[in-house]
Order: sequence, then C-alpha cells, then structure tokens
Amino acid sequence: MRRLVAMVGAAALALSLAACGSNSGTAKGTEGATGGGNSVGVVTWWSAGSEKQGLDALVKVFNEQNPNITFENQAVSGGSGSNAKQKLQTDLAAKNPPDTYQAHAGAELSSDIAAGYLEDVSGLYDEFKLREAFPKTLLDALTVDGKIYSVPSNIHRGNVVWVSPKALEKAGIDPTKAPADIDAWIADMDKLKAAGVAHPLTVGSDWTQLELLETVLISDLGADGYLGLLDGKTSWESEGVTKALNHFSKLMSFTDPGLYQEDWEPAMKSIINNDGNVAYNVMGDWAPAAFDGAGKKWGQDYYSWPVPGNQGVFDFLADSFTLPVGAKNTEGTKAWLKTISSPEGQVAFNTVKGSIPARSDLTPEQIAKFSDYQQDAMKSFSEDTIVPSLAHGAAVSIKASEAMKQAISKFTSSGATDVASLQKELGAAAKN
Ligand code: GAL
Repeated sequence: MRRLVAMVGAAALALSLAACGSNSGTAKGTEGATGGGNSVGVVTWWSAGSEKQGLDALVKVFNEQNPNITFENQAVSGGSGSNAKQKLQTDLAAKNPPDTYQAHAGAELSSDIAAGYLEDVSGLYDEFKLREAFPKTLLDALTVDGKIYSVPSNIHRGNVVWVSPKALEKAGIDPTKAPADIDAWIADMDKLKAAGVAHPLTVGSDWTQLELLETVLISDLGADGYLGLLDGKTSWESEGVTKALNHFSKLMSFTDPGLYQEDWEPAMKSIINNDGNVAYNVMGDWAPAAFDGAGKKWGQDYYSWPVPGNQGVFDFLADSFTLPVGAKNTEGTKAWLKTISSPEGQVAFNTVKGSIPARSDLTPEQIAKFSDYQQDAMKSFSEDTIVPSLAHGAAVSIKASEAMKQAISKFTSSGATDVASLQKELGAAAKN
C-alpha cells in the first residue's frame, strides 16, 4: 500500500531558528547579490560538482523560456542545505528574502509558513495545471490547511546503499545481492573487515549520519513503525528504537571517524573511485550524478540496492521552491516556478541530478531520456510504501532535525556507544 504520512507536523512550531545548531556552520560560497529588477535571485545549496551541473541544466531551460530575466545564482554550499538553511533564517527574519529559495516539501517549511514568510502559491498550481501533473501523494505532502507554499522540482530517494564491487570481491561477496536485513549486512561487514577492508562503511557529517540512522529505523521498525515515530504511535523509548540504535552503533564501528566532518561527496569518494578501500555508503540518489561525473557505470563500476530491511519502502524527499513574502521580483519568481515545474525543466534537471521528476505525466519519449537507475526508481516510487525523510526535512521541522543531528554528532564523536543517551536525546529532539 502506498502511503505518505501527513508530513507537515504540528501547527505549533517555534518560529525562531536560533537553535539551528552549532554545527550549522557559517554561510559560505554565496554567489551574486540580492534579486530585483529583471533578475531573479535563487537560493539553493547546489553550488558545486554534480549538484551544480543539475542546477545549470535547469537554468539553461529557464534562460530559453525567459530570455528577458537574468538568473542570479545565490547558492550557499553545504550538502543538504546545512549552511543555506541557517543563512535563510537570518535573511527571512530580517525581512530580506531572496526571490525564491530551495526547501524540502513537507514539515521542513512548517516554521516558515507559521512565521508568515511564504506566499500561498496554490493559484499557480491552477495556472500551470500542476494539480493534474503531480501525484496525489506529493500534493498531499505539500498542502497545509488547504494551501500550498512551494513547487517541487524533483523527487529523491534517501534509503539507497551504494556499493563498490572491488571491495566486495576481496571478501567474495556478490555485489548484486542485498543482504536480507541489518544483521546479515553487519555479518558481511565483518567478513569485509577480515578480508582487509579497513572501513566497510563510510559516513560523512551529521546529516549523512542521520540519513543512515533513519534507514536503520525503517528496517527495525518497519514502515508503519517508522511512520509511528512521526505521529506519536511509536515511542522513541520503545524497544524497537533501542534495537535500531544498537544496530546503528555497530554500523558506526565500521566507519572512518576521519570523514565525520566531510560532506557527502568526499565521504563516498572511495566508492565512486571503486578503489576497494570502502564497500558501502548510504546516500540519496543524487549520488548517481557524482558517479556519472566520474565516468562510472551502474551495474558495472558500482551497484545499489535499498538499505537491507528497507525493501518495498521508498524514503522520500522532494526539493521544492518558494515565493517568499516581500520577494523583490515576484514575476521573476513565478517564471522560475513555472520552469522548474514544466516538463522541459523537470526532464533537463532530473536527468542530470539523479532524481526522478515530480511530474507523473511525462511522455514515454521523455521518460526514455532517464537512466536505468532512474527508471527503476520511478517504478519503486509508484509501487512502494512512501515514507518521509528525517534528515531531509520531509518528516520533521528544521528544529527537530537539527536537534537530532546534534544528538547524533555527540554520540558518534564520543565513540558511538552511549545508546541510552542517544535514545533519550532523540526522543527530546522529536518534540521540537
Ligand atoms: C538534499 C537535497 C538533494 C541534494 C542533497 C545533498 O537535501 O534534497 O537535492 O542536494 O541534499 O546536498
């Protein structure tokens, strides 16, 4: 059964992001100035590498469709918006919004909506005929009290293991076959270690660790149990969560702490290079774009499967764009929202970015432009149980995910063994 929980959390959300987190870092890499005039200032975190290539492909279509509007790149580097979100909160609170900004569809926008930072764009859904173009599950996730505050450009899957065949060869493990569950996966990591692979698994900074953890929660609680964490039906104090955190602790013992401050791409470099030093990395499917950039082929130089125990579950997130109250060039923003939601924009962007289109009405010719991996992901999205990502804002407020990241950082940087404290802190974080 396909299901998506009501992704927008409780209405009573704290408005300030003062608790955005000490590890949110300083905004850096901002390009361009504020929007205005006939230019449209667009904040994303797609500032470099494969992610920038996706943005560039989208901007090309925007320029073709809008020869009189100049795209102003206001990207802020840092995977998952780790720096962009903090800068945005400062700018929004100071009534200095960009013309549009990237956010995840779902609970992540709830505090911005409650603070009155965003215009209702449901009129554009009628104007651009988007209600017929997007799947109902996505529209439900975007709708808050009958209104919609952002327009999605894509859908990513978060619960994917990227596999280096060269490392697995060392232990005689078949890279095409996913272990049945986390215990079987851990057994394979033990074999890999014994065969001389020093770090069978890699993770990078806090948000990549939270992404790994959410997939372990899905495995150990099942999709329903995981969804229960979001609507209160599953307690963070439960035995199922303890089991998942013990698994997480064990998984972290296979990782290299030297990578804990790295962004996702450097943290999975060994897998991209298939150098045999690292076997697995759990990452969203923006990863294929990085493999493509390195000239690597899926099913040959790398493999992927859902995280063990996540079969039939699609851990979902969708990048979407907003119309902030007080944006200087609202017409430019509307033109941007039109391009990113148009079939041309979605094909150009997603074929490069690795994600699947948010539109479900593309023609067979348009779908044929997508990679084998992406066509497989489209099939999964249409068949699987859909659950929202914690690390990427679909499932919980920014405050909650920031507090979860802090709890995880504390846990992993102190040896990843104090499961009881982690469990308590995650439960408290989820209350935000
Ligand atoms: C996610 C975003 C993806 C990708 C990823 C890594 O939050 O939705 O599109 O950018 O971060 O930076």
